[in-house]
Amino acid sequence: MRIAVCLSELKPEPWVDGLRRALPGADVRAWTPGAPPVDHAVVWMPPQQLLDEQPQLRGLFNIGAGVDALTRLRLPPRTQLVRLEDGGMAVQMAEYVCHALIRHFREFDVYEADAREGRWSYRKPRERGDFAVGVMGLGVLGERVARAVAQFDFPVNGWSRSGKAIDGVRGFVGDDGFDAFLGASRVLVNLLPLTEATRGILNRRNLSLLHGGQPGGYLVNVARGGHLAEADLVPLLDSGQLAGATLDVFEVEPLPPAHAFWRHPKITVTPHGSARTERETSIAQIAGKIRALERGEPIGGVVDHNRGY
Ligand code: NAP
Ligand code: GLV
Repeated sequence: MRIAVCLSELKPEPWVDGLRRALPGADVRAWTPGAPPVDHAVVWMPPQQLLDEQPQLRGLFNIGAGVDALTRLRLPPRTQLVRLEDGGMAVQMAEYVCHALIRHFREFDVYEADAREGRWSYRKPRERGDFAVGVMGLGVLGERVARAVAQFDFPVNGWSRSGKAIDGVRGFVGDDGFDAFLGASRVLVNLLPLTEATRGILNRRNLSLLHGGQPGGYLVNVARGGHLAEADLVPLLDSGQLAGATLDVFEVEPLPPAHAFWRHPKITVTPHGSARTERETSIAQIAGKIRALERGEPIGGVVDHNRGY
């Protein structure tokens, strides 16, 4: 069995070594243009050339959860596109979102600013029940986040394409349930895949529905920059309709130095690091799936091209 590793912007060697250890007997190499045919490829943002040169490819394994950079490519007809399921990211995503939520709810940013001025300040506690959290996308990451937030006794709403029952989470389903979900949520957390159906979903209209249309909604975008209509955000913050936003992902990454988001007082920017792929966990997962495919068994995380995720 032959496996190619093609990771744009990342060093392939640790993945090549790890896959060789996990799959003894497999011929694992870093991909180079014109390389001999392989059975499977382990990739991050591969060039179209790899797919054009490997029409026999059976498994294309992404080392991330989001596959939007891959669904844009032309895949050989027999190639299964497989995404990472968790790969160590779910717990990190739960940490990140709970941190952003609690920092906002408890006004720790205000205390930090006061402390820098040497001010011993006191702020009236806010009512947890007024800060319902809405999680968009209840997949591997969204479900973990919703459960973690519920542990802090916030009301939690969840929205997904198909219905999903999660303890402590009020479920809303599909387009019909969307406006009611937004209206019932004050802090909106985006964990949707970026697809034709979800691009631009964080726009002026939808963000204005948060918190029953009252001012004071808050946005945490940890999925993809393409979900946010970027030009809509600053006016919503400046008018007070939104109280703030924590953004980990952007339409253009790295976020250009002159971008308004860097310096806006109500926006917290992090550099697409809310949840990072854990290499060893992910190598074990991918190796397990390759072994299963070789035995002719079904595997999880296969992308449905009609849905786009
Ligand atoms: P997943 O398991 O595929 O879950 C996707 C969820 O979104 C599912 O609940 C799905 O509904 C729902 N969904 C998809 N399209 C929808 C639509 N049109 N309307 C309503 N719900 C819809 O994905 P995941 O592993 O949780 O990852 C989610 C995303 O997080 C990734 O695609 C990636 O973009 C992002 N991500 C970001 C980082 C980072 O560092 N910032 C790291 C990892 C991942 P069903 O349950 O009905 O299928
Ligand atoms: C990271 O953004 C991922 O999709 O895994």
